[in-house]
Amino acid sequence: MPATSKPVRVPDLKDRKKRGEKIVMLTAYDATMARLLDRAGVDVLLVGDSLGMVIMGCETTLPVTLEAMLHHTRAVTRGARRALVVADMPFLTCQTSIPEAVRNAGRLIQEGGAAAVKVEGGRPVIEAVARLVEVGIPVMGHLGLIPQSVHQLGGFRRQARDEQDAEVLLRDAKALESAGAFALVLESIPAHVAREVTAALRIPTIGIGAGPHCDGQVLVSYDIFGLYEGPLPPFVKQYARLGETMVAAAEAFAGDVRQGRYPAPEAGARE
Ligand code: KIV
Repeated sequence: MPATSKPVRVPDLKDRKKRGEKIVMLTAYDATMARLLDRAGVDVLLVGDSLGMVIMGCETTLPVTLEAMLHHTRAVTRGARRALVVADMPFLTCQTSIPEAVRNAGRLIQEGGAAAVKVEGGRPVIEAVARLVEVGIPVMGHLGLIPQSVHQLGGFRRQARDEQDAEVLLRDAKALESAGAFALVLESIPAHVAREVTAALRIPTIGIGAGPHCDGQVLVSYDIFGLYEGPLPPFVKQYARLGETMVAAAEAFAGDVRQGRYPAPEAGARE
């Protein structure tokens, strides 16, 4: 549990980096999960567009709409007390024009209740990120494996594996920091590249499949709890098998109903 129950604010993350304290982030998509993760002392709840896969059953994050993100962000912000809530900007909600990016991010803050938005990509979104920050919307960047570009990348593959790609990533990371991003997710890149980026930035990096040198770590909650049945990335550590527990509980309920053990005779009757 965290030493304090004081709410986590955007500037706190930079201070954490200065003090060498690791940042803990998990995805959440509903109020119940948000409440539980908040109780566990998770610092940042990411309403990830991974909800397309884990909640909607899609193969990628691409079908996720702004309306879907708003729906889930509202639920998460109702459940969160201490944790900072960050909402993903879904596919093409930040890239078509700057006014459109401001409008869409503004809705996630104003209607969804998020404290910040997360934007995937480097050079193509820098101007939009700068404008969002200028109008008062905190932005978390996301580089490396950016799932919204899954088709262009040829699948969910490790990125920045050669020196040239690593240099581009470092350049994009610095550009995002200069544009005012307050933190940066680094997904599926070699540990030594993540270490170099982390050392080069004043803002914290939050890794997922990027090794131990980042300033924090994030994973998809359904993956670590053993709830998602699709293939898991190799870097995921499962901390529970809640899917198995739920199946066993549902089987026990079904058995009780079919055998007449539930409800117990007269139990629960309020006549
Ligand atoms: O959508 C998401 O859940 C994410 C995390 C995996 C970083 O972007």
